[in-house]
Amino acid sequence: MQTILKPIEITNERYRLGYHVAAKSGWINDPNGFCYFKGYYHIFYQHYPFAAEWGPMHWGHARSKDLVHWETLPIALTPGDKEDESGCFSGSAVVHDGKMYLIYTGHHYYPGDDNPDHFWQNQNLAISEDGIHFKKYENNPIISQAPEDNTQHFRDPKVWYENGNWHLILGSQSNDGLGRVLRYDSDNLIDWNYLGPVAKSNNLKKEGYMWECPDFFSLGDKQVLLMSPQGIDAEGIHYNNENETGYMTGDFSYTDNKFERNNFQELDSGHDFYATQTILAPDGRRLLFGWMDMWGSEFPEKQDGWSGALIFPRELTLKNDKLYMKPVDELKLLRTSELLNGESNINGSYPFDFSSKQYEAEITLNMDNATEAGFSLTDSNDQEMLRLQYSKNNNHVSVMRPGKDGVREVVISATDTLKLHILVDTSSVEIFINDGEATFTERIYSEDTLRFNLLSNGEVSASYDIYQLDTNAIEY
Ligand code: FRU
Repeated sequence: MQTILKPIEITNERYRLGYHVAAKSGWINDPNGFCYFKGYYHIFYQHYPFAAEWGPMHWGHARSKDLVHWETLPIALTPGDKEDESGCFSGSAVVHDGKMYLIYTGHHYYPGDDNPDHFWQNQNLAISEDGIHFKKYENNPIISQAPEDNTQHFRDPKVWYENGNWHLILGSQSNDGLGRVLRYDSDNLIDWNYLGPVAKSNNLKKEGYMWECPDFFSLGDKQVLLMSPQGIDAEGIHYNNENETGYMTGDFSYTDNKFERNNFQELDSGHDFYATQTILAPDGRRLLFGWMDMWGSEFPEKQDGWSGALIFPRELTLKNDKLYMKPVDELKLLRTSELLNGESNINGSYPFDFSSKQYEAEITLNMDNATEAGFSLTDSNDQEMLRLQYSKNNNHVSVMRPGKDGVREVVISATDTLKLHILVDTSSVEIFINDGEATFTERIYSEDTLRFNLLSNGEVSASYDIYQLDTNAIEY
């Protein structure tokens, strides 16, 4: 008799987020299929509903009219068919002829072989007329196998329309063990022509052995290749996560498939940011989602029947070959009340007098008479759960959280004014520094309502606005 699996249940709400997309229960990783269809933004995610662990991947699904209030929809893709028997891995969505097309990777293990590194991957299609129910294309796969000079790593299709044609890129690894991105094009989303690699890792340790979740778009006057390489070695303050998400800017020619590109740069400097995906919104903004976690993390919420969440959606802009990120402006729609606002001269530690687990803080610190300033979040035993510190001496911003490997750092342009935009949710903190020049994305776990303290080592004039955010923005 076949066992019928039941979705895992949430047993404790202590770390559940108020306004970040997560699953009703169970595991999630990468965002998938970000698109705008018939008046709604749609986001999907890698999902395993039966345990708070990674397992045979499904596509979980949510939609929103405004990017900030999300309604959970039924699971869109379930693995187990011939072309995706071991999992429906990451992919993207496009809208064509009034229908939504999901393009995703079919993951396959070899029967009787339980080595997780022995697998093969192909690319498949599923179609929806209503944006809720999906039907897998009967002639799947649409790309059946990797080119001959590739290993088994061949996944995460990103599709877009440009210059009268459909374009698709894939994350992959070439036979010499280096990460690369492959390009295809099509005039019907079904028959794809292989056009060769667009870019390739030029060094195993510096650019990695496999490039996951690629995305390729123009922004400002440049082309951006955004992706999540595996295997980059740590180098001082850089590349300290298990895998990294970052980008290369450059110039691209569609006709000769050449991408003249710069070096890889990290996109976010925190511990918990991976597997991003962007879309061009109807109003022309380049919007970004990512997984607000990292492979290899502890995920304390697993004990409670769930694991993982997506970042708050961000808008990307490019200035001087560098990507800037800010929370989408629709964030304002989540404000339910003002918790605090004012101006103070601080010197040392300055605790704020409000109490909340889900809020937004906009803070400007004028540091003419101090060399260091920042903030901390402390629990009821005065233990720091997170501290951010900017030092004018070396222009480093450091973020510290307790536990091993707790520090992340970035260098910003010299400044006397530190502008912080901070999104705090029950078990996450996203920090945008100086209009998105640097960002830190962090999961933190405490059952207390944390106190917010400004910090400085000299006189600093601070101005601040703190808003309570909607704690029920995600409908499960
Ligand atoms: C990235 C990734 C993708 C893959 C998916 C599987 O986090 O490894 O390359 O499609 O997760 O869940």
